[in-house]
Amino acid sequence: MSAAGAPPVYRRVLLKLSGQAMAGESGTGIDPEVVTSIAGQIGDAVGLGTQVAVVVGGGNLWRGREGASRGMDRATADYMGMLATVINALALQDALEKLSVASRVQTAIEMKEIAEPYIRRRAMRHLEKGRVVIFAAGTGNPFFSTDTAAALRAAEIEADLILMAKQGTDGVYDRDPNRVAGAKKYEELGYLEVLNRGLGVMDATATSLCMDNHIPILVFDLGRKGNIVRAVAGERIGTLVRGEPAK
Ligand code: GTP
Repeated sequence: MSAAGAPPVYRRVLLKLSGQAMAGESGTGIDPEVVTSIAGQIGDAVGLGTQVAVVVGGGNLWRGREGASRGMDRATADYMGMLATVINALALQDALEKLSVASRVQTAIEMKEIAEPYIRRRAMRHLEKGRVVIFAAGTGNPFFSTDTAAALRAAEIEADLILMAKQGTDGVYDRDPNRVAGAKKYEELGYLEVLNRGLGVMDATATSLCMDNHIPILVFDLGRKGNIVRAVAGERIGTLVRGEPAK
């Protein structure tokens, strides 16, 4: 099925963007061209009538876990990571604004001079009005990943689907497709399989949260232009993780 002109299947989605997605080729920092391209794809999805919320990571700027592994206090390192996600959120909002896509940033840690505080009902109103809502600062708590923030916010705003954007990997494979010739891609997987086999979709806390709240997760390649629109239009791309056992 072509995405062009097709009605959106999903009413409300939550897009999880890793910090890495904002960095482009260099792998670190923010590449404005790359961010503009992502913003364009988000705008196209909104244009189809789908409500889009976004959770951004911060790994392009700072990784809490790495700081901790090099001797820093874990909680402090994680708070630094949360601040990194706010920087990414502002970059994405700027890019959306330049493309005339209405957006609001909400932070899990209050910093009112920069963005709105996270208020669930307000976020949902923004979405109903067709605004993209970018959730920043993770869950606001150390020891949790931005994957968990994505699962939590998706449950709170009653999203129909989490779009788990990956770079250069078009789904979940039984083995590393970059290293093993003949690695098999899954069309569909169950949450328990992801957990039991340690398939790197999202971390275990986040996966469990999705399982408990019956939120499907679509793992797809952000690198292929137009994939966000394809996903919200219900095209079969990537790997879908949900309650049913794998085929
Ligand atoms: P409506 O109530 O639907 O009109 O939503 P709105 O977001 O347009 O209204 P509001 O007047 O609340 O916000 C206007 C602008 O101020 C938006 O860009 C908001 O993101 C921003 N804004 C609202 N509250 C805060 C806040 O606490 N801190 C910051 N920095 N900006 C805020």
